[in-house]
Amino acid sequence: MLCIGLMSGTSADGMDACLVRISDDSLHLLDALCIPYPDDVSRFLRALAIAETITPELAMDADRLIAQYACNAVNTLLEQNHLRPAEIGLIGSHGHTLRHRPQPDGFSWQIGDPSWIAEHTGITTVADFRRRDIAAGGEGAPLVPAFHRFAFGHVSGTAVLNIGGIANLTFLDDPVSGFDTGPGNALLDDWCRKHLQMNCDEQGALARSGDILPELLTRWLEHPYYAEPPPKSTGRETFRLQDDDALTGLADKDVLCTLTELTAQSVAMAIRGSGRSIRRLLVCGGGVHNDFLMERLKAALPDVDITSTASAGLDPDWAEAIAFAWLGWRTIRQLPGNVPAVTGAAGERILGAVYPA
Ligand SMILES: Nc1ncnc2c1ncn2[C@@H]1O[C@H](COP(=O)(O)OP(=O)(O)O)[C@@H](O)[C@H]1O
Ligand SMILES: [Mg+2]
Repeated sequence: MLCIGLMSGTSADGMDACLVRISDDSLHLLDALCIPYPDDVSRFLRALAIAETITPELAMDADRLIAQYACNAVNTLLEQNHLRPAEIGLIGSHGHTLRHRPQPDGFSWQIGDPSWIAEHTGITTVADFRRRDIAAGGEGAPLVPAFHRFAFGHVSGTAVLNIGGIANLTFLDDPVSGFDTGPGNALLDDWCRKHLQMNCDEQGALARSGDILPELLTRWLEHPYYAEPPPKSTGRETFRLQDDDALTGLADKDVLCTLTELTAQSVAMAIRGSGRSIRRLLVCGGGVHNDFLMERLKAALPDVDITSTASAGLDPDWAEAIAFAWLGWRTIRQLPGNVPAVTGAAGERILGAVYPA
């Protein structure tokens, strides 16, 4: 079955779309693209993610905007592959997260109206993947571990790290486990956008030229989230720099260097604290392009062989979009998509809702 996966991550950098061919035991990536969000769209989405209140009018605008980007991405993929909508079995659309407050609130909100997507692409759309797991007592996140298990199988001593705005980790031992480790690129991007008129610290070059601020790093690493036992997941409500007065007057390069170290150290802590003997770490997500972050990760985990998931056959830029194509396929096939050991849900559940073409 040809399937399309759509992902708009917490980085609010763009709409990722991939075209894959899926069967019971194989998945092939045929094409992929990212429609980058212009600055005003990215700013709007990032502001909503941390806003105290969201009016219905703002939610409505954002919901339609994400749906339009989704349709645009799908229709571009169809055009460039000379495919008709009828040839595509389904779209698995993650949407864009505005709130993630799993337990005890029991709420996670992804926008990008799936009815609109089904109507304007002519393709059956599966969406709202997180809330069934949350209703079953789970975190609703991360959901990619089930896909990592499908893509890589059970490999003892190996973990997968996805460095998006928030980072998540999957341990591929049997049984598979995993959780969100904390911020990946999100705080780095926030600083760059606010103080440097840059979208990100390209290849980590600025951070590399700075120094770690030890007191700041220690304080950040004391955030209670890091010590919480899994199952756990997090989002932009929990990790933000906006309220941190201690940052006033600090050199950009030193803050960026310290934030890079925070991501590296928090991942290392998560791996060490898991009690598993990890020898190999496969990395995907945009953070894989931050050379300095990858170096700091290697320095924090000197005994671990750290490479891009590309070394194991999965393109690191499209891993999440592919995962949601696969999760949509699971839903259509009436197969569960969550890993209860990861999310803490009471059991396996068929995720999402189906919006027929
Ligand atoms: N060349 C690069 N140098 C540094 N950081 C990069 C580079 N390319 C991507 N990134 C980082 O990756 C982020 C996008 O990663 P992505 O996996 O799409 O995250 P999300 O799922 O949160 O959208 C960017 O916002 C940026 O922080
Ligand atoms: Mg992204």
